[in-house]
Amino acid sequence: MAKTKTAFFCRNCGVQSPKWIGKCPSCGEWNTYVEEVIQREEPGVAPGMAIRRNAIPTLITDIELSTENRIDTQNQELNRVLGGGLVPGSVVLVGGEPGIGKSTLMLQVALTIKNLKVLYVSGEESEQQIRMRAERLGMGRNECYILTETSTREILGHIAKLTPGIIIIDSIQTLTSDNIDASAGSISQIRETASEMQRFAKTVNVPVFLIGHITKEGTLAGPKLLEHMVDTVLQFEGDRNYGYRILRSVKNRFGSTSELGIYEMQSSGLREVSNPSEILITQHEEPVSGTAVAATIEGLRPMLIETQALVSSAAYGTPQRSCTGFDTRRLNMLLAVLEKRSGFKLGVKDVFLNIAGGLRVDDPATDLAVVSSVLSSNIDIPINSKTCFAGEVGLSGEIRPVTRAEQRVTEAEKLGFESIVISKLNFKAAKSAAKTIKVIPVSKIEDVFRHLFG
Ligand code: TYD
Ligand code: MG
Repeated sequence: MAKTKTAFFCRNCGVQSPKWIGKCPSCGEWNTYVEEVIQREEPGVAPGMAIRRNAIPTLITDIELSTENRIDTQNQELNRVLGGGLVPGSVVLVGGEPGIGKSTLMLQVALTIKNLKVLYVSGEESEQQIRMRAERLGMGRNECYILTETSTREILGHIAKLTPGIIIIDSIQTLTSDNIDASAGSISQIRETASEMQRFAKTVNVPVFLIGHITKEGTLAGPKLLEHMVDTVLQFEGDRNYGYRILRSVKNRFGSTSELGIYEMQSSGLREVSNPSEILITQHEEPVSGTAVAATIEGLRPMLIETQALVSSAAYGTPQRSCTGFDTRRLNMLLAVLEKRSGFKLGVKDVFLNIAGGLRVDDPATDLAVVSSVLSSNIDIPINSKTCFAGEVGLSGEIRPVTRAEQRVTEAEKLGFESIVISKLNFKAAKSAAKTIKVIPVSKIEDVFRHLFG
């Protein structure tokens, strides 16, 4: 019998050490080391490394170029985030908080994908539960097998018999490998089971989806090490209070990471939202102060989103600044610029900012709309609802140009906006794309203020 061996692992980055250490030498985190039992049957295979055992060096020009043969998942948003479809033999990690809809999304894919045998392995739900959910989602007519099992040896055995064309594992934290004695969900188990799945996917060229839970700190449990091992990491996120869900690609060996998929959670599952602007702009009966629409680009997709600000006198000594969907530090910076350039005493005001629809935006072009909505709320004068904004605000109050101005203008025009406020430096490009929409060039915060409120 092999003797029991234990080792210490960093909970943050997965580094292994023979003894306990207070500060991880690899990632610098404190108190992250945990002891786990490890007992390998066969030593020496580094996880994630063993793609093919008896490989020989091959001249790069002699390697057959597999024509990009992507699998259409029948889910346009997912295809987009994957970079144009699923690559055979790739391992895709789908991460997200509990209850966000990972199992729903994957089961939906399992039920709608065409001409492929699907194996959905669940370690969390019973067959009946999955069947009930499938009824709710509307059963497809394809070959979808459900297996409730957690041992990788059993799972790989079933896979060998069934030969599915795509495999979904729900979730990686429930899998256990016989090679390791640690409990399911521990770092060494996650590392081992994920590497077994990865090795399998590469050898037989079958794609594998791994569902992964996110811990309270917002990282994938068994975090960085899993991200290194898989080909693609997708993050499923959203505000529970809104029906919208966003699928983001965090890492992608086969495509860009700036893509975004948008879904709406309904009683019959996730609906793809192909025109996000429609849901992200609230229709107001009458003009209200404190709202401005930003022409942003997320990934390759232009979207118009509404920013809402509320500026009020601070009830207590220290004014509050709070953001939903926007970086609070960036808001503070914009407020400081406004205070300096527009002469408003925003330092004594509470400022709340909200991006409608529960979306989180990173595009710096949102700045101009944020600034405009704050100004509008502060003096309580509404902005024309047919006006939108695209511009980054610099520290000296200058309006900086944005990327792909033409695309933003075209999208705004398509959605019926009558004018777009944009940096002077984008004027030429914007003008060339504009057919009916009026392009208003601005170079400083003062120009914006003058244009909006006279
Ligand atoms: P689930 O896929 O189980 O989340 P995860 O696997 O990420 O933990 O999603 C669960 C939530 O989704 C649950 O709160 C109910 C909701 N839901 C719907 O609103 N409509 C549906 O059709 C389904 C299947 C789930
Ligand atoms: Mg689930």
